Amino acid sequence: MSTRTVIVGTGSFLPARVLTNSDLEKTVDTSDEWITTRTGIKSRRIAARGEETSMLAAGAARQALAMAGITPAELDMIVVGTITPDMTMPSCACLVQQELGAENAFAFDLNAACSGFLYGLDLADKYLCQNPAWKILVIGAETLSTRTNWQDRNTCVLFGDGAGAVVLAGDGKGRGMLGSRLFSDGRLWRLLSMEGAPSLNPDLARPENDGSYIRMEGREVFKHAVRSMGDAVTRLLAEQGVAAADLGLVIPHQANLRILQSLAERLGIPLEKVYINMHKYGNTSAASLPIAMDEANREGRLAAGDLLLLCAFGGGFTWGAALIRW
Ligand code: UT7
Repeated sequence: MSTRTVIVGTGSFLPARVLTNSDLEKTVDTSDEWITTRTGIKSRRIAARGEETSMLAAGAARQALAMAGITPAELDMIVVGTITPDMTMPSCACLVQQELGAENAFAFDLNAACSGFLYGLDLADKYLCQNPAWKILVIGAETLSTRTNWQDRNTCVLFGDGAGAVVLAGDGKGRGMLGSRLFSDGRLWRLLSMEGAPSLNPDLARPENDGSYIRMEGREVFKHAVRSMGDAVTRLLAEQGVAAADLGLVIPHQANLRILQSLAERLGIPLEKVYINMHKYGNTSAASLPIAMDEANREGRLAAGDLLLLCAFGGGFTWGAALIRW
């Protein structure tokens, strides 16, 4: 049997500060009732000043490495999915490499917005097929709070900070990544964008410039998210000859509970099989999938041999799905 990519460790790291819906009621014209019923979000984590994306990423990576029983020096490749790197250059991944002391790895960032982790997983899988002895760290990490307009109730109630990571290795026992499918449509970029470049230099942060912030046509994005993720999953399952009923667990990007309800209905999957933690963390963009995977793993929601489906949708637009035998 050919070598497959196996997840040998998961980790996550969330900033300590919790921002609840009630806290937001005090600063913007919103209510816990509106946020809960329209999104399913109850609270989110917010990074402290100086707590950069690379620090959250390294925290998640340390946990994943510990679970895998792998030292940083054994890593061959580090990829970080993020739209909020500490700086434009160097990459967040190089800062993580330095932080971990992973001197034998090459490291780079990948921007596919909320699909960044999924794109990273797909890429790492291809590298591992070529190099079965490699150990690869794939991270999704964001500090979206730094790019949120806290006066804009349409967006500021949605996002949160955090990081999640997985360590991947080759394995020939039939489990692991079975397949993945990625898609993009750049024609729709204006529906979800963030135009300003990231920088630690405070002189370059321009709060008066709306382009520095994340902007979204929520209702349009909602429709595309349900349709696109649904199509990607249907296509992947058909290609793999897997029925929706065979799935043990579905971990989707955590953007909106109503999106997940519509998706589950469309695919004929009971909501009990859909992992949901957005009520605690909101939408953490590229970090959302690996944080949820780590929590599901540590809660014992994934048994050996289970079929795990991942799917995501984000700015670009980018979207896709992956199927893993745990
Ligand atoms: O991660 C990438 C993918 N992102 C997503 O998938 C997000 C997709 N979109 C969504 O999740 C939803 O569209 C939102 C949660 C962003 C918005 O929910 P919605 O049901 O689409 O609301 P809406 O934008 O259509 O707004 C409905 C009303 C508006 O008032 P009027 O014009 O009807 O009077 C908004 O001004 O709700 C108002 N509104 C709010 N009210 C209280 C918008 N935000 C808020 C708020 N609190 N925070």
